[in-house]
Amino acid sequence: MTVDDARALMHEWVESPSLRGHMEAVAACMTHHARMHDPDATDAWTIAGLLHDFDYERHPTMEEHPMIGVAHLRTLGVDESIIEAILGHAPYTGVARTTPMARHLFACDELAGFIVAVARVRPDGFEGLKAKSVRKKLKDKAFAAAVSRADIAEGVADLVSDGCVADEAEHIDRCIEAISGVSDRVIG
Ligand SMILES: [Fe+2]
Repeated sequence: MTVDDARALMHEWVESPSLRGHMEAVAACMTHHARMHDPDATDAWTIAGLLHDFDYERHPTMEEHPMIGVAHLRTLGVDESIIEAILGHAPYTGVARTTPMARHLFACDELAGFIVAVARVRPDGFEGLKAKSVRKKLKDKAFAAAVSRADIAEGVADLVSDGCVADEAEHIDRCIEAISGVSDRVIG
């Protein structure tokens, strides 16, 4: 499967512009991080981002998402490293995040959603957005309340313990840089 194939499949299964934009945001983060940590697998990391929630619109329950999507991806012969990362991004599957791809997907998923939410309420969008503003908003429990701060903290802690980033601020800044590069796909 190519990145273009993955995007086409995502568009086939997802109509919501915001859910499409969310997967583009996470994919941009994954591309950016793969170039630093696993450059030969950049397309695989990007595909994991583009497809991690592709079954969510049709199958939003914890009983079905992301298992139904994964079953479909297996019929298409998608690489197991991508499958494992997609299963691992949903903590309730119990699938351990053992690979850098899986650990980054989890560390980017909720955070990407949060960064986009912050950019949406700023007059300048992503322009000039820094980790400091994002971290301030993370402490405001009423803002984007559906975004799990615990998941963001756990994802960052994994990357710090793996030596991929020094701290939360560095990870957030890298994600902002990645998402702002595709802002036209993320915020329609
Ligand atoms: Fe997601």
